[in-house]
Amino acid sequence: MVYIQRRERFSSAHQLFNPNWSIEKNDEVFGKCANKNFHGHNFNLIVTVKGSINPDTGFVMNLVDLKRLMKIYVTDKLDHRNLNTDVDFMLGKMASTEVLAVEIWKILEPKISEHHAFLHCVRLEETENNFVEYYGE
Ligand code: NI
Repeated sequence: MVYIQRRERFSSAHQLFNPNWSIEKNDEVFGKCANKNFHGHNFNLIVTVKGSINPDTGFVMNLVDLKRLMKIYVTDKLDHRNLNTDVDFMLGKMASTEVLAVEIWKILEPKISEHHAFLHCVRLEETENNFVEYYGE
């Protein structure tokens, strides 16, 4: 099994806010991330795909195809958007990096399978210091 990775970048705005809670409770749990006027991050999305090497190409999966899938189905929908209001697959969900990573997995996993490879990890870097990884379980 060989693992390949591709990084794409996007910038999005969000607010961490639970509508079932009071303003005070949201402020207590989420701090400045609950700011009602939103704030932004420059995200790194690193997708890891695993598979065996195709003897005809020497590739696990053509990285041009992986780049295209990540761009069309994920980063084009997220870049310069508001995760709370502009992104169909995030509507009604908490706009956390954890939730976003799981939703990106759901989108990419079947697309990558069509290329005879397997999604292994969705890694989202929200800041220089805060990262999320999701392995599908
Ligand atoms: Ni944030």
